[in-house]
Amino acid sequence: MSTVIVLLGPPGSGKGTQAKRLVGVLGTPHVSSGDLFRHHLGEETELGLMAQAYMEKGELVPDDVTVKMVIERIGRADCESGVILDGFPRTLTQAEALDDALEDQGQEVTLVPLIDVSDEEVMRRLTARRVCRDCGAVYNLVFEPPREEGFCDVCGGELYQREDDNPETVKHRLYTYYKETSPLIGYYFAQDLLSRIDGEQSMEEVSEDLREAIEAVREEA
Ligand code: AP5
Repeated sequence: MSTVIVLLGPPGSGKGTQAKRLVGVLGTPHVSSGDLFRHHLGEETELGLMAQAYMEKGELVPDDVTVKMVIERIGRADCESGVILDGFPRTLTQAEALDDALEDQGQEVTLVPLIDVSDEEVMRRLTARRVCRDCGAVYNLVFEPPREEGFCDVCGGELYQREDDNPETVKHRLYTYYKETSPLIGYYFAQDLLSRIDGEQSMEEVSEDLREAIEAVREEA
């Protein structure tokens, strides 16, 4: 049985942090639309350069290009027995495109954990987030600082702050979330797929709640 998890939640709620932890539990790949765009940007592809303008403003990249990029990724062989989606879908159009693509592959969404975090906590976390330039490991200057300031514990690479993690852009990303992505809460609630998770607990406690929610839905199947 395949397991398709859609992690929903505002920017900074911990989707990426938890997705990386779930990979070890589920053995399925983690696909992050934001990471795919940042990879394209790093390679200076046409898609990456186009996406950059939207990302820097905290707005969504248009649906057609986003859907094409992510659906191509989850169509690869490593996603045959499931995937952990982080940051996709973010609009109703993307959610419907995902359902269609999964149906074509004989899969369906298994569970949609909604990681709940307040706006104040989002602001606190994102302005303190640092990312490794080389391996992509994520730190937080307040909650999970690196051992040596400015350098990655894993590979020694340089840590940097994402362009869109400044207070003004974080506020606009939250606005975009409420306007464009929050309708997905109703979309998945109506399908009995939504599971609310308290995202303001420790990372370990959030992981535990996620594991329990996934286990419960797998047992029912
Ligand atoms: P994307 O990269 O997806 O950003 P996001 O959704 O805004 O999410 P983040 O990566 O900021 O946060 P997260 O929830 O993963 O939190 P994290 O685990 O890092 O998208 C960026 C942009 O790309 C978008 O604005 C848009 O332009 C474009 N884009 C992407 N997908 C798109 C789509 N589908 N359609 C159109 N456009 C799209 O944690 C945050 C911090 O908090 C870290 O420092 C972490 O260490 C810390 N932390 C995590 N959990 C805890 C905890 N429990 N306690 C304390 N600290 C914690």
